[in-house]
Amino acid sequence: MARNLMISMAILVAACTQVSMPEAPEGQALFAENCVQCHGTSGMGDGPWASAYSPRPADLTRLSANGVFPKARVLSVIDGYDRTGLPGKDMPEFGLLLEGDTVPVDVGDGVLTPTPRPLAALLAYLESIQAQ
Ligand code: HEC
Repeated sequence: MARNLMISMAILVAACTQVSMPEAPEGQALFAENCVQCHGTSGMGDGPWASAYSPRPADLTRLSANGVFPKARVLSVIDGYDRTGLPGKDMPEFGLLLEGDTVPVDVGDGVLTPTPRPLAALLAYLESIQAQ
């Protein structure tokens, strides 16, 4: 009896650990590794490589300029799935880098979509740096 309870609890803990959502600091580390060269440490588009690009790397603190953080759009730009509306072609694709475990993310349509954890972490970080 007690043993069964222990096992159920272990399973419950495992399940909870699996769906623990990545938070901004996890995304910040990925951002520092992959994005700052162009977008800058502040995300404002002023990294050391920025001046080599035209159009320049976007100011990622202004993605919510029209009041909503556009999760679905940001995800599809980063993983290379959809670049509709981007004027240039210089933003690299990170689709292959972002494989691995998935976490459920609601990108705004109320549906939890399995999303690679690093991508979800980047999303949490970018959302946290939006200018008010
Ligand atoms: C080699 C330089 C470079 C790197 C590295 C880079 N980007 Fe970009 N990024 C750009 C450029 C240039 C644009 C603007 C593209 C355009 O307007 O056509 C852009 C645009 C974007 C946009 C679209 C912004 C909008 O207005 O919708 C997002 C989101 C973005 N980058 C996120 C990231 C993230 C997250 C990373 C790291 C995983 C990253 N970028 C790494 C150059 C880069």
